[in-house]
Amino acid sequence: MLPRQVFLVSLLLAASNSFVPENKLTPTVYESINRGVSGRLIGSDETTIANYPYVVSLQYNSTFFGYEVAHFCTGTIVNQNWVVTAAECALLLEPENLIVRAGSSYYNESGIVYTVENVTTHEDFDAVDLNYDIGLIKIRGSFQFSDVIQPVKLPTYNLTIENGTMLDIASWGVTEFLDANLSPVIRKISVPTITIEECSRVYEQVGKTQIDVFCAHAANIGPCVGDAGAGAVRDGVLLGLVAWSYGCGGTTYPTVYSNVPRLLPWIIEVAGITSEAPEESGASEASGAFCSLLLIFLSLAISMR
Ligand SMILES: *[C@@H]1O[C@H](CO)[C@@H](O)[C@H](O)[C@H]1NC(C)=O
Ligand SMILES: *[C@@H]1O[C@H](CO)[C@@H](O)[C@H](O)[C@H]1NC(C)=O
Ligand SMILES: *[C@@H]1O[C@H](CO)[C@@H](O)[C@H](O)[C@H]1NC(C)=O
Ligand SMILES: *[C@@H]1O[C@H](CO)[C@@H](O)[C@H](O)[C@H]1NC(C)=O
Ligand SMILES: *[C@@H]1O[C@H](CO)[C@@H](O)[C@H](O)[C@H]1NC(C)=O
Repeated sequence: MLPRQVFLVSLLLAASNSFVPENKLTPTVYESINRGVSGRLIGSDETTIANYPYVVSLQYNSTFFGYEVAHFCTGTIVNQNWVVTAAECALLLEPENLIVRAGSSYYNESGIVYTVENVTTHEDFDAVDLNYDIGLIKIRGSFQFSDVIQPVKLPTYNLTIENGTMLDIASWGVTEFLDANLSPVIRKISVPTITIEECSRVYEQVGKTQIDVFCAHAANIGPCVGDAGAGAVRDGVLLGLVAWSYGCGGTTYPTVYSNVPRLLPWIIEVAGITSEAPEESGASEASGAFCSLLLIFLSLAISMR
C-alpha cells in the first residue's frame, strides 16, 4: 500500500503587531516585475538533481503525532560536512531525528541518506523579528561528492543583490497552494528580486526591524509549503534562503529571503570554511532593510500509513 501524503501546515505565529500586510502590491507593480518570467504557478518545471547537485531534502526520521514525517524543508550543501537552511527549519529538530537525503531527484528514494551530528542556528535568530533566519546542519561523516552531490558556490561578502536579479530555487514543495502533495521529483522556479521599497509597501516592518533579508516576487510563481530553507541561487552562487511569506506561491505577496552575502561571516565561521574564502566585495552595501513578518509557513510532509 502506498503511503498517502498529507501535510501539516504549521503556522508559526511570530507575535507582535499585525498579521496582515498593510498593502498588497499594486497590479502595476507585479505585472511589471512579472514581465519576462516564464513558468507556472508555484512549482514550475521539473528538473533533475544533476542540475542542482547542492540541494538536499531535510527529513524527520521519527514520528510526529503518530505520523511518519518525510521531507519538511530544503537545504543547501556548503562544504563536505555542512548544509545551510533557514533557522526555523533547523530549530524544529533534534539532530538524532533529522536525516539529510542528497544526490536524488526524489525526496523519498535513491541518493545517499546522511544522519546528523549537529544542528546550529544563528545566535541572534529572533523568532519575533525573524532576523538572522539561518541555520547550519552538520552531517555525520562527509558528503561523497559526485555529479549529483556538490557544494554550492558562496557569494562575496555584502554582495549587492540588484533589483530584478533572477534567482533559481529548486525544491520538492507543493505545486499548488493548499495542495496536500509534495512534488516527489525536484522542481525549479525562477523569480526576480524586488526593491526594498516595493517589499516594504507589503510588509510594514521593512526597514525597521528585519535586516539582512531581501525580497523576490513574481505573480503566480514562488516558494510554498515544503520549500522553506531552500537556496535561492544565481549562476550557481547562493544568494538567499527561503524564509517566509504571507500566503505563498507568489500569488499576491512577495517572499522574504535571508540575505546570504550579509550572513556569510557566520556561515564561514560555523562551517569552518577555510579554502577558497570569498574575496571581500567592493560593491556598495546591500540594499538595506526589509520586512519583518509574523506568519511563517512551515510544512511537514507526513506519510500516513
Ligand atoms: C531512523 O530511526 C530508526 C529508529 O530510531 C533507526 O533505526 C534508523 O536507522 C534511522 N534511519 C536513518 C536513516 O537514520
Ligand atoms: C516515491 O514516490 C513516488 C511518487 O509518489 C512513488 O511512486 C514511489 O513508490 C515512492 N518510493 C518509495 C520508496 O516509497
Ligand atoms: C555544534 O556546533 C556548534 C558550532 O560549531 C558548537 O558550538 C556546538 O558545541 C556543537 N554542538 C555539538 C553537540 O557538537
Ligand atoms: C558588511 O556590512 C556590514 C554592515 O554594513 C559591515 O559591518 C561589515 O564590515 C561588512 N563586511 C565586509 C566584509 O565588508
Ligand atoms: C525593479 O525591477 C523591475 C524589473 O524586474 C522593474 O520593473 C522595476 O521598475 C524596478 N524597480 C526599480 C525601483 O528600479
